[in-house]
Amino acid sequence: MAQTKIAIYPGSFDPITNGHIDLVKRTLQIFDRVIVAIATNPDKQDSLFTVEERLDMIHDVFKGLKKRVRADAFEGLLVDYAEKTGAKVIIRGLRAISDFEYEFQMAMMNRELNPNLETLFMMTGESYFYISSRLVKEVVSLGGDVSGLVPKNVLKQLKFKFRSRQ
Ligand code: PNS
Repeated sequence: MAQTKIAIYPGSFDPITNGHIDLVKRTLQIFDRVIVAIATNPDKQDSLFTVEERLDMIHDVFKGLKKRVRADAFEGLLVDYAEKTGAKVIIRGLRAISDFEYEFQMAMMNRELNPNLETLFMMTGESYFYISSRLVKEVVSLGGDVSGLVPKNVLKQLKFKFRSRQ
C-alpha cells in the first residue's frame, strides 16, 4: 500500500491569513495530509494571539477538511517535531524575493540538522503576495479594513483583540 504523504507547514500563524490558507490548499494537491504547526518557542513572546486562540482559528478554518488538515503546536526544533509526526517535507511559502534569504538560511540549517527532511517552497497565489500576519495586525490596529485578507472568524477575533486593547 502506498505510504501516506505528510507535509508540515510550520509558522507563527499569528493569525492565519488567506495567504496561508491558499498555501495549504496548494499543498493538498501534492500531499495527502498537511499539519499546520505553530511554533511556540518562549523567545517569541510578542504574539497577539495565544497558541490556543491560534489553534482554534486554524481548526475552524479547516473544519471541512478535518481528515487531511491537522492543526498542532510544537516547542523546540522543527526537525525534531517533524520526525515525531513522520513528515518528510517542510512546506514554506515564498512571496517576494525579500523572503528568500531568511527562508534559505532556515532551509539550510534544517538540512544540516536532518539531511532526510526536505524543504519545499511554494509560491503564494498572486492575490496574496503582499499579505503578512504582521501587516494585517498593523492595519486592523489602525482601524483599516482587512476583510479580503483573512477569513471571517479571524477578522472577528482581530477586531475583538484590538477593541479590548483600546
Ligand atoms: O511564520 P514564521 O515566524 O516565519 O515561522 C518561522 C518558524 C516557526 C518556521 C521557525 O522559527 C521555526 O522553525 N521555529 C522552530 C524552532 C527551530 O527549529 N528553529 C531552527 C529553524 S532553522
